[in-house]
Amino acid sequence: MTDTNEEAARLARARLPAGLRPETLAVRTALAPSQHGENSEALFLTSTFVQPDAQTSARRFAQMEDFTYARTSNPTVRSLEARLAAMEGAEAAVATATGMSAILLLGMGLLKSGDHVVCSRSVFGSTVSLFAKEFGKFGVETSFVSQTDLAEWRRAVRPTTRLLFAETPTNPLTEVCDIAGLADIAHAAGALLTVDNTFCSPALQRPLLLGADLVMHAGTKYLDGQGRVMAGALCGAERLIHDVFGPTLRTAGMTLAPFNAWVVLKGLETLALRMKAQSEATLAVAQWLQDQPAVARVYYPGLASHPQHELAMRQQSGLGGAVLSFDVGAEGADSAEAARAAAFHVIDSTRVLSIATNLGDTKSLVTHPATTSHGRLTEAQRQESGIGQGMIRLAVGLEHVSDITDDLHRGLGSL
Ligand SMILES: Cc1ncc(COP(=O)(O)O)c(C=O)c1O
Repeated sequence: MTDTNEEAARLARARLPAGLRPETLAVRTALAPSQHGENSEALFLTSTFVQPDAQTSARRFAQMEDFTYARTSNPTVRSLEARLAAMEGAEAAVATATGMSAILLLGMGLLKSGDHVVCSRSVFGSTVSLFAKEFGKFGVETSFVSQTDLAEWRRAVRPTTRLLFAETPTNPLTEVCDIAGLADIAHAAGALLTVDNTFCSPALQRPLLLGADLVMHAGTKYLDGQGRVMAGALCGAERLIHDVFGPTLRTAGMTLAPFNAWVVLKGLETLALRMKAQSEATLAVAQWLQDQPAVARVYYPGLASHPQHELAMRQQSGLGGAVLSFDVGAEGADSAEAARAAAFHVIDSTRVLSIATNLGDTKSLVTHPATTSHGRLTEAQRQESGIGQGMIRLAVGLEHVSDITDDLHRGLGSL
């Protein structure tokens, strides 16, 4: 083994030629193997690291270098960070325990009392609560604006605005925002743009190349891709990741467990293949749903009828991603209760799909947003957000498309 793990990391990077494509980086980027020469990256299940002598230990603690204690870093976590950064086109990444703890780290690292944030009102519900309620307790104010109207973002900016936060496409309406346009607004205001890239993953969308400053991930979804572990990450410039977020993570401890890091590290190796296959299957399901008499509307950026279809195709490598929603509208079902009964009938008639609120699994997941992810909103708030009782969300996995559509037809055909 080389003298230090940092040197090993440098050697590993140096061994790879420059200019490798994302698919290659996804399987090849990692710290150098141990003295045993393992080809698949090792899982280092250790909470502390033995130091060669007191002086080296003192230096490593002072300079936050190499491996000292696993709250600060661990070789398996470091391999995941290096691989994800390479795939996002970032200088560096920091992994966290969950997607939400990545946003917690973002806020704790960047914001202080008196700072202002502009955030889309269509982002993940817990993200809204984290900014509005939790960061609000510490004197950080957040303005929530339209997902798609850039003028509203521009108007919301104040002299104290430090951060713009966006997610694209959103859940469950799959609304797409213009990342390059938001980056221009952020930079003109001297603020940073962070994009939650969970739904697309770097296989489809690389926000940093469109001008965003930071990318945030719920690695729980497509990065793992097989519904096994929780994980999160922030990716961006080295000076932000190492000088701002590194010290905050070391103090606050929203650290990713090595086992979970290893699972996601291996998940990344098949990310591009899964995203392509799942996006193609989702488009086929969306097109089939459009032709069903019991379906009133399909929400999917891959469909030409989607309001931001062209932007999505430009931003997302020509693919719509693997999440869609649709409204069921049984004949005469004009009340909220009737719409809910129709949606429940379709969900409960499935025998292959899992009734579960997650996404990014190999198994297709079906959910009723109005009573699950958006169940804490009032009916009026839900209606304002366009999430009706007849809406069903589908996160398409890797089953055969015909088995998915047959499963949906069990309920849709008998409405
Ligand atoms: C877009 C998005 N961001 C963030 C999160 C939070 O991730 P986690 O559940 O890993 O905390 C989720 C979870 O569903 C999500 O869908």
